[in-house]
Amino acid sequence: MAETLPRRLVVVGGGGHAKVILEILRAASPPWDIVGIVDADPDPRSVLGVPVLGRDSLLPSLRAEGVNAAFVAIGENELRQKLAISTQDLGFELVNAISPAATLSPSARLGRGVAIMAGAVINAAADIGDLSIINTGALIDHDVQVGEAAHIAPGCAIAGNVAIGERAFIGVGATVLPGISIGEDAMIGAAACVIHDIAARTTAVGVPARVISNVPKGPR
Ligand SMILES: CC(C)(COP(=O)(O)OP(=O)(O)OC[C@H]1O[C@@H](n2cnc3c(N)ncnc32)[C@H](O)[C@@H]1OP(=O)(O)O)[C@@H](O)C(=O)NCCC(=O)NCCS
Repeated sequence: MAETLPRRLVVVGGGGHAKVILEILRAASPPWDIVGIVDADPDPRSVLGVPVLGRDSLLPSLRAEGVNAAFVAIGENELRQKLAISTQDLGFELVNAISPAATLSPSARLGRGVAIMAGAVINAAADIGDLSIINTGALIDHDVQVGEAAHIAPGCAIAGNVAIGERAFIGVGATVLPGISIGEDAMIGAAACVIHDIAARTTAVGVPARVISNVPKGPR
């Protein structure tokens, strides 16, 4: 029987988040043929040995050369969502990067372009939206809904029936109690404990989490 050639894939973004994604994609089975990276800043010339081919403007020619899969490896939520839409519009399939060291319930639903890092646990009936990041060691319990392009940072504990809005950012080590809703573009500070619903576009920090701003800013 003829062997199928590995599918050709380009990674969009070459920063720190991309390093983690590259190592996950390299461990994938069947393997990807990672042709390279495109990045707004084409220096350095390679990331973990994968060449930076040039800027995002190279994507149409890569598509024309038969590269048909892409992963948008950008940590910032709004930019990741924007670039994913334009990459998909060029005809690339947005694939998932799921660490073999993550634990996924068979009843969880995963969207497209999702990153799930080592040690993450996705429990029963959780719904993980397109382009979201479930970072290292994050726990997503049963029936949680993670919105499109949200980012659950390393070590978060998201209890059952929580709803997290589009592009929301939950900082490293935060805890969210059962049934809480967090609105779109909200930011939750590192190590916060969220015990009340958090409105869209607000920043909340501390234990228990308190709103400090209605205008999100800073890293997401
Ligand atoms: C919440 C956060 C986004 C706020 O950033 P910011 O808007 O730049 O806020 P500032 O640094 O100006 O701090 C504003 C106030 O909130 C406090 N604060 C900020 N982050 C806090 C946190 N995580 N817990 C408790 N208080 C915090 C600051 O001490 C400051 O208080 P003050 O006004 O009394 O001095 C940021 O501090 C944070 O926690 N980011 C998480 C980063 C992370 O987890 N990255 C993971 C990448 S994988």
